[in-house]
Amino acid sequence: MRSTRRLEEMEATASSVVPDAPPVVTLECVDLVKNFGGVRAVDGVSLSFEAGKVTALVGPNGAGKTTLFHLLTGSIKPDSGAILYRGSPIQGLPPWTVAQMGIGRLFQDVRIFPNLTVLENVLVARPIQRGERALVSLFAPRVVVKEEADSTDRASEWLDRVGLSEHADQPAQALSYGQQKLLAIARLLAAGSDVLLLDEPTAGVNPMLIKRLLTIIRDLSGGGRTVVLIEHNVNVVLDVADWVYFLDEGQVAAFGLPQEVLSDPVVRGLYLGLRA
Ligand SMILES: Nc1ncnc2c1ncn2[C@@H]1O[C@H](COP(=O)(O)OP(=O)(O)O)[C@@H](O)[C@H]1O
Ligand SMILES: [Mg+2]
Repeated sequence: MRSTRRLEEMEATASSVVPDAPPVVTLECVDLVKNFGGVRAVDGVSLSFEAGKVTALVGPNGAGKTTLFHLLTGSIKPDSGAILYRGSPIQGLPPWTVAQMGIGRLFQDVRIFPNLTVLENVLVARPIQRGERALVSLFAPRVVVKEEADSTDRASEWLDRVGLSEHADQPAQALSYGQQKLLAIARLLAAGSDVLLLDEPTAGVNPMLIKRLLTIIRDLSGGGRTVVLIEHNVNVVLDVADWVYFLDEGQVAAFGLPQEVLSDPVVRGLYLGLRA
């Protein structure tokens, strides 16, 4: 009798354990190739990025990391290979279409509008609104006013998320370099990006802001976004990445958990300049 009850209890416990949800791959590329003249910048690269995870791309200068971002965002076309966004091929689409689909990129040289205010920078990043079409603003002015108020509220929320609310009315050029990177991230969020490709987000940023940046990155991936990070700082990779791809000479040379990849003697030799 007693043993039956134990069994029932065990079964109840087992059925209440929810199995891990299978990973959702949002963005992947298959056998991607890009040559610049005689240079094989990307040489048959296959990799995939999961929703709710931070994936770091590491590797020596010239490994092809930035070129890979150019390919993923449609800024340049691959010579061959496929890029899939939620299972559909997107290689060959123009960059604005790729951005509208939800793939956003933080550039190595932060690109913001220096003369607009911090809030305006976020406002102009959001998708096109009804009020921006002339006929709607003529015939439905009240709708337009309401939409504008809503957009401002939403833009303020994004600023709050990256900790820049108190700077909303300052010109963007008054921000420090690190704050400008945070602003660029707020712009990606306002644009509705659910895949965030960040090219060296911590480079040139002071340690205090790096901490905030990493909290934001963790927060965004925790909320289900796909974050891909090109990063040179090993501590940042160990701190924030779920997965690491190591690229060398245009190829994926290693993949795995950060601890595993970064302790590989070959990776350490090539990437960290340490003797293998
Ligand atoms: N527009 C280009 N024209 C010619 N060569 C390029 C161009 N962009 C990148 N390369 C070359 O491709 C290789 C990969 O560069 P890149 O993707 O910038 O590497 P990483 O970002 O890993 O440092 C390098 O050899 C670089 O010189
Ligand atoms: Mg680069």
